[in-house]
Amino acid sequence: MWSSRLMFIMAAAGSAVGLGNIWRFPYIAGENGGGAFVLVYLGCIFLIGVPIMASEILLGRAGRQSPINAMRDLVAHSNANPLWQAIGWMGALAGFMILSFYAVIAGWAMSYLFQMGSGAFTGADAAQATTAFDALTDDVGAVVGWHTLFMAMTIAIAARGVGAGLESTVKILMPALFFLLVVLVIYSAVTSGKFTAGLSFLFSFNIEKLTWNGVLMAMGQAFFTLSLGMGAIMAYGAYMPKDTSIISTAATIALLDTVVALMSGMVIFPLVFANGLETAEGPGLMFVTLPLAFGQMTGGAFFGAVFFLLVTFAAITSSISLVEPAIAWLIERLKTTRTKAALVVGGLAWLMGLGSAFSFNVWEDLHFVNGMTFFDLMDYVSNNILLPLGGVLIALFAGWGIDQQITRDQLAVSPGVYQIWRFVTRFIAPTAVFLVFLLAFF
Ligand code: TRP
Repeated sequence: MWSSRLMFIMAAAGSAVGLGNIWRFPYIAGENGGGAFVLVYLGCIFLIGVPIMASEILLGRAGRQSPINAMRDLVAHSNANPLWQAIGWMGALAGFMILSFYAVIAGWAMSYLFQMGSGAFTGADAAQATTAFDALTDDVGAVVGWHTLFMAMTIAIAARGVGAGLESTVKILMPALFFLLVVLVIYSAVTSGKFTAGLSFLFSFNIEKLTWNGVLMAMGQAFFTLSLGMGAIMAYGAYMPKDTSIISTAATIALLDTVVALMSGMVIFPLVFANGLETAEGPGLMFVTLPLAFGQMTGGAFFGAVFFLLVTFAAITSSISLVEPAIAWLIERLKTTRTKAALVVGGLAWLMGLGSAFSFNVWEDLHFVNGMTFFDLMDYVSNNILLPLGGVLIALFAGWGIDQQITRDQLAVSPGVYQIWRFVTRFIAPTAVFLVFLLAFF
């Protein structure tokens, strides 16, 4: 069990804050034209994300096991349809898919840690930064090597268990990351000369640039960044102390997560405009813009290395939450040790990850549906389909399927707040997600 409410917040925020905020949010927002996308994203976080996060935490804490077995017991206890158990299984699948590309991108960040530290970017211009990024992703050996190292670290920490490794890591590193982001925002504001252009890209409501697929991506990003829809938060909820308020905790986590994402955008977009780069640069956006900024800064090699170190840690505190549901289940099911379970889960995700590692080099021209590479496909299917679907099923189960007394006891809020949560969970969140699916796909 987490030692306190603060530790649960730290761990859940550690899961939520990761590459999704610093790497994925800016590039997805950039690809979808900024402003309107960001607004839809914020709407999804607070209207759909927070109530669903509350549902996930409460199911986890009521079940007190791995998501798969928690769902089995809650279904049995509530005399609900056994099909609800699909939530647990789908979640484990989504977890594998996400981790498989997550570890590859985290590997890039680790490589940048060392490149920054060696002063490779000192005084670099936009063309050099772009070339350096392409050189890394083209290098299969390097990409697979870093991917392997990141996965090994994830396995090692997950094998020690959620409490031991995690609490101490998150307690120090998350505030440090936050502090460095503040420094970067100030740097971007003072030196880029394009701070207002960056802000207006992020916050002006340019509806004509947004497509229905963009709306779907905003929703997918909301689920991804909050770690929702696959049981990660449910697995963490299983270790949450009984007397902690679920709804206010969920709101706090969402707020922290959102601030980090927005700050990251406020660092990156002014730099994009100042250096004549494309907002729709894609997955390389952060890896091209930030080294540029550090390259111009006094002491930039040092701060750059520290920054990528913190990004790596933010990624690890997220990746261990991606493996936790599957590990917890393996331990219960096969009565095996945590170490063995972590090795099996991490090994499988590593194997799938090779596909994403190859997507930027040897499999560059291998396209699946709609011209998507293996990486694109994993990312699209997990974030835009499996997570929202998993999230809706969680909401529907918490709203309709489960014994209502359990939700009342777990949430322990005033009748008014409870009714609001229940209404959003039963009607608003599911309708919104299905509407977006419908509009985006048809
Ligand atoms: N939220 C993390 C990020 O933004 C990624 C993540 C961790 C995640 N655990 C998850 C995403 C579970 C979806 C589901 O980087």
